[in-house]
Amino acid sequence: MKADLVISNIGQLVTCASGGKAKRGAQMHDIGEIKNAAVAISAGKILAAGPGDEIANSYDATDTHDAGRRAVCPGFVDPHTHIVFAGNRLDEFEQKIKGADYLEILASGGGIISTVRNTRGASVRELVSQTRPRLDKMLSTGTTTCEIKTGYGLDLETEMKMLEAIAESDRTHPVDVVPTFLGAHAVPPEFRENADAYVALICDHMLPQAWRWFTGSLFFGRVPFFCDVFCEKGAFSLQQSRRVLETAKTLGFSLKAHVDEFTNLGGSTMAIQLGSQSIDHLDAISDEEIRSLAGSGTVAIVTPTVNFNFGSSEFANARKLVDAGCALALSTDYNPGSAPCPSQPMAMAIACRYQKLLPAEAMNAATVNAAHSIGLGATHGSIEEGKWADLLILDTDDYRQLAYEFGGNLVSRVIKAGRDVTVPRER
Ligand code: NIG
Ligand code: FE
Repeated sequence: MKADLVISNIGQLVTCASGGKAKRGAQMHDIGEIKNAAVAISAGKILAAGPGDEIANSYDATDTHDAGRRAVCPGFVDPHTHIVFAGNRLDEFEQKIKGADYLEILASGGGIISTVRNTRGASVRELVSQTRPRLDKMLSTGTTTCEIKTGYGLDLETEMKMLEAIAESDRTHPVDVVPTFLGAHAVPPEFRENADAYVALICDHMLPQAWRWFTGSLFFGRVPFFCDVFCEKGAFSLQQSRRVLETAKTLGFSLKAHVDEFTNLGGSTMAIQLGSQSIDHLDAISDEEIRSLAGSGTVAIVTPTVNFNFGSSEFANARKLVDAGCALALSTDYNPGSAPCPSQPMAMAIACRYQKLLPAEAMNAATVNAAHSIGLGATHGSIEEGKWADLLILDTDDYRQLAYEFGGNLVSRVIKAGRDVTVPRER
C-alpha cells in the first residue's frame, strides 16, 4: 500500500491508544508502547502504527524519516488555556512574591481585571500578534492542539473580539484550536455592585451572539464550542454559574467549568449533573464529588502549574482522582496571572512530583485524555489508525525523561497532520 510518509526506526513508540475512550484509573498506566516501531501516514492521517518490519513490508512510502531509535509520542493536547490577552502581569508577580493573595488582588481591581483593561484596548490584530509567539512556544514544547478561552473582555464587544482572535489564530497557526466562551470569568468593574445584571447580560445577549458567531465560523462542524464559568468566591456563585451553563447548553454549547480552585461552592456536582465535558482545577473537590465524577462521563482537568506558580505546597489530589477511577487530563492553564507556562512537559514534571502521577499517567493525561476533555477524542491525542498524524520525535529513547528532566526541551521534531512544523530554534 502507498503511504505519503513512513517514520521508521522508532526505538520506543508511545501510542497512548485508547480504543476511542478516555482512560480511567488503572488504564492510565498503559501508554500503548511498541518497541522497534514505525508509523505510516497518508493525507495527514495515521494509516498504521506497529512493528517496524511489518510497516516496512506493507507500505511503499513516498517520503521516509528515520527516527534514529529515539522515542516518538503523540503531540500534546493542552485542554485549558487563556492565551489570547494583551500585556502581562509582571508587577503582580512581584506582589505575589511579597505575599499578596490572588483573590485579594482580583477583589482590589487587579489580576484578571488588569488584563481586561489591556485586552479591551487592543485590536483583533494586536491580540493575534501577541498570541502567535505563545502558540509558537507551545508548539516548540510539543503541543499540537489546544483549547483557548475568552474572558478578558467581559463586555460584548471585547468578548467577540477575542473570539475573532481565537479563530484567526487557529487559521494562521499550525496548532489546532478549540474555542471556549468564558464571559463569566470575572465580574467586570461596571457591574461590581450587581453581578446578577452581568449574568443576565451574558445569558440574554452575549451567549446568543457568541453562538450565532460560531455557526458562521470556520470552527462550525469541525470542533465543539464550549461555554465555561469561574465558579468561585469573588467570581460567580453556584446559582449564577448554573444559570450561565444552563443557558449555554440550551443554545447548543458544550460545557466546562472552573470549579474548586480555592473554594468548594458545589460547582463540581452542578457541572457533572449538567453533563459538562470537563471540570477544571479541582483543588477543593470533596470525596463524594470524586465518586460521582468517577461514575460520570466528565473528564477531570488538573492545572498543577497554578499551584506551582503560587509557590504553594498544596495541589489538587490527582492521585486520588485516578485511583477512584476518574478520567484525568492535564493542562498548563497558560495565562498571564495564575500560570504563565506554555509547556505540557513542565506540567507533567510538576504533576509527577507534587501530585504523585507516574510518567505514564501524566503522558495519557496530557494527550489522549486531554483530547477527550475538549471533545476531540475521536480524532486527536493518540497514535491510532484514522487519527490525525500529530506526533513528536523526542531527544531521548525513553518517554519518561519528558517528566524527569525539566527546564529544557526534549521535543526535537513536531509533526502536525503529517507535516513537519518544527519551530526553528535560533542559534
Ligand atoms: O484558570 N481561575 C481563573 N482563571 C484563570 C486565571 C486567569 C488569570 O489570572 O488571568 C485560571 O487560573
Ligand atoms: Fe483557567
